[in-house]
Amino acid sequence: MKTILQANNVNKIFGAKGNQYTALQSISLSINEGEFVGIMGPSGAGKSTLLNIFSTIDTPTSGKITIDGENIVAMNEEKLSDFRRNKLGFIFQDYNLLDTLTVKENIVLPLALSKVPAAEIEKRVQEIADTFGIRQILDKYPYHISGGQKQRAAASRAIVTHPSLILADEPTGALDSKSAASLLESLSKLNQANQSTILMVTHDAYAASYCQRVIFIKDGQLFQELPQEGLTRKEFFGRILEVLASLGGGHHDAV
Ligand SMILES: Nc1ncnc2c1ncn2[C@@H]1O[C@H](COP(=O)(O)OP(=O)(O)OP(=O)(O)O)[C@@H](O)[C@H]1O
Ligand SMILES: [Mg+2]
Repeated sequence: MKTILQANNVNKIFGAKGNQYTALQSISLSINEGEFVGIMGPSGAGKSTLLNIFSTIDTPTSGKITIDGENIVAMNEEKLSDFRRNKLGFIFQDYNLLDTLTVKENIVLPLALSKVPAAEIEKRVQEIADTFGIRQILDKYPYHISGGQKQRAAASRAIVTHPSLILADEPTGALDSKSAASLLESLSKLNQANQSTILMVTHDAYAASYCQRVIFIKDGQLFQELPQEGLTRKEFFGRILEVLASLGGGHHDAV
């Protein structure tokens, strides 16, 4: 099994001397190719900080991180921007679609800089539009589609480059339950069909129940890992709720 992400002893301290805050402490974890992994934990636990570090948007104070065999901590800014563009896909809560472009134009935007042939681009767009159920809105502009459709368009844009790793921070956070389920089904389908590797931060136990493994963090440290293995989604959902309850003190939307 190929390891896509390997983190060893990652620490993150914010602030200057005398006013420091340890957001992450000795985080070590690894994600295999084709895994769909969730990260959960109370508000302020350090989930977004960790995801931002994996996204190369932020840097760790210490620790080692390799993604698809490359040491991302040592990379200079120029290499990092290539790396982000070629290897990573991002899905965030605010969709970041460009209003002056159609859905289709938004989706192919990341390929504009690449040398992918036009026929290949068209093929990818059609495949992705089917996976995410947005074929009928490809020619619409973002202000004419719903929040759920926007999020699926943003997810499509994140995966059109066939990234090694898809990073999602609360992708269902702004969606109603029907749109959330639809996005999760699509991500699940993508994960199974393409062996895409997905790391998703979520507050929502229902969203996390779509994952194959959930990593819980508390106060910047690993708290527990829960594999879905052998459980139905409903049983897994129940186990996730149990761990959230044992985490205590948090503000979970789903509990
Ligand atoms: N740039 C920063 N400077 C100082 N402290 C920060 C910074 N970013 C985050 N923190 C602190 O680090 C801790 C972890 O924040 P983070 O955003 O990772 O939490 P989270 O688990 O994503 O929470 P939520 O579920 O509310 O999104 C918080 O206490 C936060 O205040
Ligand atoms: Mg967060």
